Amino acid sequence: MTTIGFIGAGHIGGALAQLAVTAGYEVVVSNSRGPETLVDLVGGLGDSARAATSLEAAEAGDVVVVTIPLKSYRDVPVGALAGKIVIDTNNYYPQRDGHFDELDSEQSTSAELLQVHLPTSKVVKAFNHITSADLAAQGTPAGTEGRRALAIVGDDAEARSAVAALIDRLGYDVVDAGALAAGWRYQPGTPAYGPRLDAAGLTRSLADAKRSVRVG
Ligand SMILES: NC(=O)c1ccc[n+]([C@@H]2O[C@H](COP(=O)([O-])OP(=O)(O)OC[C@H]3O[C@@H](n4cnc5c(N)ncnc54)[C@H](OP(=O)(O)O)[C@@H]3O)[C@@H](O)[C@H]2O)c1
Repeated sequence: MTTIGFIGAGHIGGALAQLAVTAGYEVVVSNSRGPETLVDLVGGLGDSARAATSLEAAEAGDVVVVTIPLKSYRDVPVGALAGKIVIDTNNYYPQRDGHFDELDSEQSTSAELLQVHLPTSKVVKAFNHITSADLAAQGTPAGTEGRRALAIVGDDAEARSAVAALIDRLGYDVVDAGALAAGWRYQPGTPAYGPRLDAAGLTRSLADAKRSVRVG
């Protein structure tokens, strides 16, 4: 796993790309407007980074991060991501994304929508419950006292393990919360959404989550 593709290169995509480059990965970043609009970002990231179209980023990534407003998830290329691990950072904010009946009724979750859109990919929900500023600033080496932990869910256990190893390299402990359907436990409005928590604190917060507490 050496190249991470990014579909979306805004607050979270940019912060994650920087962490990835610092940790020794190659990154290919993309957005909706085209690679020529990412010259400054790539210049700041250095020689391990390049800009491309979203399709090219999907093709180039051994692992691909989807980090765009949820309302645009159907734009994510399907065929190029077949068989790949796809990390989903997205959150549902109806005032930004419009209303999705499956989410309002809590019959599904945002990451499950992406998984349905990408039926042969292995979607892992991660990085959605930390702000981009905190993500950039709070990583520490493994073993650091009180190290911040991030939650993951996904239906493929091997994909969860691979993403957990990646997150550890980027500076964070991991709490594996199981299947993708459990992703609501750290969606907006839950106790785990936002605060800096170590693995024990995050585990408690995930257990304390109640449904029907969505913000917005
Ligand atoms: N900001 C945070 O602290 C934070 C924390 C955790 C999770 N999240 C979630 O992560 C996701 C991204 O948030 P963000 O704050 O990074 O958003 P952002 O700063 O607005 O950046 C969004 C990025 O997605 C790109 N994009 C939009 N539509 C696209 C499409 N159809 N195809 C390809 N690229 C597209 C945008 O490119 P253009 O500019 O060219 O349109 C931009 O690079 C959201 O779901 C958000 O809720 C955000």
